[in-house]
Amino acid sequence: MLARPQAKTLLRFITCGSVDDGKSTLIGRLLYDTKLIFDDQLASLERASRRHGTTGEDVDLALLVDGLEAERQQGITIDVAYRFFTTPARSFIVADTPGHEQYTRNMATGASTADLAIILIDARKGLLPQTRRHTKICSLLGIRHVVVAVNKIDLVDDPELAFAEIVDHYSEFSTALGFASVVPIPVSARFGDNVTSSSQRTPWYEGPTLLNYLEAVDVADEASSASFRFPVQWVNRPNLDFRGFAGTVASGAVAVGDPVVVAASGKTSVVERIVTYDGDLSHANAGTAVTLVLADEVDITRGDVLAAPRDRPEVADQFAAHLVWMSEDEMLPGRSYLLMCGTRTVPARITSLKHRIDIHDLSEKSAKTLELNSIGACNIATDSPLVFDPYGENRRTGAFILIDRSNNTTAGAGMIDFGLRRASNIHRQAHSIGKADRATALHQKPGILWFTGLSGSGKSTIADLVERELHRRGLHAMLLDGDNLRHGLNHDLGFTDADRVENIRRVGEVAKLMVDAGLVVICCFISPFAAERELVRGMVAEGEFTEIFVDTPIEECIRRDPKGLYRKAQAGEIPNFTGVGSPYERPQAPELWLNGAAEADQAAAKVLAFAYPALM
Ligand code: ADX
Repeated sequence: MLARPQAKTLLRFITCGSVDDGKSTLIGRLLYDTKLIFDDQLASLERASRRHGTTGEDVDLALLVDGLEAERQQGITIDVAYRFFTTPARSFIVADTPGHEQYTRNMATGASTADLAIILIDARKGLLPQTRRHTKICSLLGIRHVVVAVNKIDLVDDPELAFAEIVDHYSEFSTALGFASVVPIPVSARFGDNVTSSSQRTPWYEGPTLLNYLEAVDVADEASSASFRFPVQWVNRPNLDFRGFAGTVASGAVAVGDPVVVAASGKTSVVERIVTYDGDLSHANAGTAVTLVLADEVDITRGDVLAAPRDRPEVADQFAAHLVWMSEDEMLPGRSYLLMCGTRTVPARITSLKHRIDIHDLSEKSAKTLELNSIGACNIATDSPLVFDPYGENRRTGAFILIDRSNNTTAGAGMIDFGLRRASNIHRQAHSIGKADRATALHQKPGILWFTGLSGSGKSTIADLVERELHRRGLHAMLLDGDNLRHGLNHDLGFTDADRVENIRRVGEVAKLMVDAGLVVICCFISPFAAERELVRGMVAEGEFTEIFVDTPIEECIRRDPKGLYRKAQAGEIPNFTGVGSPYERPQAPELWLNGAAEADQAAAKVLAFAYPALM
């Protein structure tokens, strides 16, 4: 007797193509012909998942919902409709995304959880640039299986020839992308040919119908075959007798008695219990939400990852990754973003953008930033080590999102390629003399006086007076000024947003070293972005950074125009001059606000009285 199948398997797929290619018709056809149409809406998807809660797909549906919720909380509107349908053989979730070029981010969102992609090609038009683009994105996002649906086969004179040509063209460029399978099927979404039943129109085609293929294709469930990974969501400690680690098995499986390791610290223990609301389990598979109780008291907090000791994830604070940029604000290397990977969130910055991928011809272009919907390869550094697997090995633990710290929205989605080892071989050297010792020797309190304001606002003049007075009183101060540093340390930087970010990052590092040396560091930089001013603030100790806003109306700066730059900017000769063609973000809560229209010596006196009241 045949064993009854345990539970239907689930196939997640994405359709790529435009309305013109017949995408909606194809999805409609699949749903209609399978006669099991569920409402498109997420709410009903949730209901559907509950209804099917006894089969294997309930967990996956819940995961899907979680994924969307996470995006929602990040305030991003992603135009992806998930449709759920089922046949006697299998259940399906199809992610339907708008096909226009500007929607790369939608496609990336839909593709990140898909096992298979249907690439639609209009038989009359053949391969279009978007065909290549979609295919490339699918390969980047780790989709291993592709169906090339050659649609509108009823509308060409010689369908057999048209089909053969498209198949040839497609394999010419897709071979290099290394998909596990690429299966072409001639279809007519409109009339249903080869969608759910074989077509009389294509006697030369002997392959399966689209639905048959989707029901049969073996997409060995990556999440369950990968190694055990358990990102800890929270530590559950209701009383002194119980301490469990709650989360969802991201990949692999775990059983009572299994050894586990805390990836970051290397501490090991053994799983004693697997607790759920419905009682204890003997083992748990990928996708299951459980609370693990370990045999030993091990130091574990939210964001830690429990893993199989014999196959550990990587731990590094620098890695190479591909990024899909999802924000209207361009990506700025050097800027601090929040990186969310699994249950962990850490500050991170893009240390270098290696190239942008031209989505038309897939070539690598040099670039300084990434714009909305563009894709690039970069190196990323996190403030503290991250536990991950390369995305190619594990899509659950190799993916991350970047969050814009100013408005908490998702700025980008990333796929980790590999950790950068060189970073892990550099350790901090401990010295016996520290900042406090040096400051004591100099008899002063070190810190940064950070002057920000438009060009011509009077920053340098005021700062010069401040330094003179401090010097006269025997303090050790050092003035760093934009114009001067741009002749040396920063001579390679211009005035794009990206260069200004890097300018201030470097200045911040230098100022921090000088504070460590015990100095009073006076900095005069336009520093037009709040994010970088905050970055520098965070580099030194609490109370060591004083933001001084020299608030001079731009009309006054233009009237003064000490270097003749406003005149040039207004004549269009300096396109990105601050205040003219480039923004200045006014400080919202500076420690000190100065009226830039007032006399410079009055302003300097205010600074001194504020920062060194004991001296004055
Ligand atoms: S910042 O924006 O990156 O903080 P920074 O303070 O280092 O600028 O340098 C500003 C100085 O560079 C200005 O005072 C001005 O003399 C000069 N400059 C030249 N081009 C520009 C420009 N496009 N925008 C602003 N300042 C410029």
